[in-house]
Amino acid sequence: MTRDINEICRVMCLTAKSAGRIMHGTNPADVGITQKPGTANYVTECDVAVQKFIARELSVFSPEIGFFGEEDTEKGKLISDLAFVVDPIDGTSNFMMGLRLSAVSIALCDVKANRTLAAAVYCPYTDELFWATLGGGAYLNGEPMQVSARDLEHGLAGYGSTPYDRTVADRHMALLSRVYAKCIDVRNLGTAALHLAYVAAGRLCAFYELRLSPWDYAAGALLITEAGGKITNFSGDPLDLSAPDSVMAGNPVAYAELKELIEE
Ligand code: IPD
Ligand code: CA
Repeated sequence: MTRDINEICRVMCLTAKSAGRIMHGTNPADVGITQKPGTANYVTECDVAVQKFIARELSVFSPEIGFFGEEDTEKGKLISDLAFVVDPIDGTSNFMMGLRLSAVSIALCDVKANRTLAAAVYCPYTDELFWATLGGGAYLNGEPMQVSARDLEHGLAGYGSTPYDRTVADRHMALLSRVYAKCIDVRNLGTAALHLAYVAAGRLCAFYELRLSPWDYAAGALLITEAGGKITNFSGDPLDLSAPDSVMAGNPVAYAELKELIEE
């Protein structure tokens, strides 16, 4: 790669912030909504506009790096080794309902090596920018970020309900009941990218979801490992950056406890 990773991450952060401001400044009542395949899976005109903005900014800066976004119409585009993996609005249903809890997620991935090199997640409603570079640490608004030391008994556990694939609903409910029995309480914030960022920031001790897509976790995964946490799929293997996967994450203590509950 000709460009320095820190320089690329800086541009990813600036782009995520500008993109987040577009989302923040858009009234969901003013944008069209289309249903995607699966249950209750929607895309708004704002998702598409934000993704176009991010794609344009990043390609002007780094035309040699590929681009793969949630709202790409040609899903076969993940062909280059190095690619920006982007969720323009993570938490689309929250955005549609005016629940101000959504984020822009941008990851720079070495897809061939299956690893994230840089990550930027921005929530415009709280003006919080989470970012990390591989080996360079994780930061929240410029301050170093670390996972907490809380076990499940003393922490809040985030989860996602895999809303677009209800075939796993029974499995999801059974696991939720086991996790709920162990922790202070459970939280489903409706945005996987922020769940992961909050694990990295020590606000949640753990997070899991039965099925997510690379754009949901590519950035958050690096935030967590650089903040001292663990993140894998339910088999304990590294997350797949080129196909959907299950996700479990946490600080080392809560991750181990969650893994046991998942394996039960
Ligand atoms: C969704 C959110 C949600 C999670 C879903 C994701 P989207 O992403 O992260 O929290 O439960 O599985 O697909 O569609 O809002 O970008
Ligand atoms: Ca999205």
